[in-house]
Amino acid sequence: MPIEAGLAAGDRALGEYLSAECVTCHQLSGRYQGIPPIVGWPEASFVEIMNEYREKRRSNPAMQTIVGKLSSDEIAALAAYFGGVRPKN
Ligand code: HEC
Repeated sequence: MPIEAGLAAGDRALGEYLSAECVTCHQLSGRYQGIPPIVGWPEASFVEIMNEYREKRRSNPAMQTIVGKLSSDEIAALAAYFGGVRPKN
């Protein structure tokens, strides 16, 4: 694997570890329960949205606080993990 691809790809195992906090609100099943589902997305879209909370272009205070604690590597890891989870409907 080229070095750049290795750096860009998120670490799924780390993402799974970090996801414990997320799934207290977001449903891993992909169902909408007052909070939007976040599974099965393309990784780039997931990262983009997380950055919108970080830069306060999206206004949800809970998400801004959560994203504020994450590094770029951790966001990439979460994108890789949640992107690989298939919604069960
Ligand atoms: C305290 C509850 C809570 C936790 C914990 C939480 N979220 Fe959220 N999240 C929300 C809410 C509420 C929204 C919808 C906010 C909005 O309308 O902008 C949201 C929105 C999102 C969105 C955008 C969804 C969309 O369809 O636009 C993403 C992506 C996301 N969260 C990822 C995460 C990740 C990754 C974690 C864990 C690191 C996490 N969230 C933890 C409550 C939470």
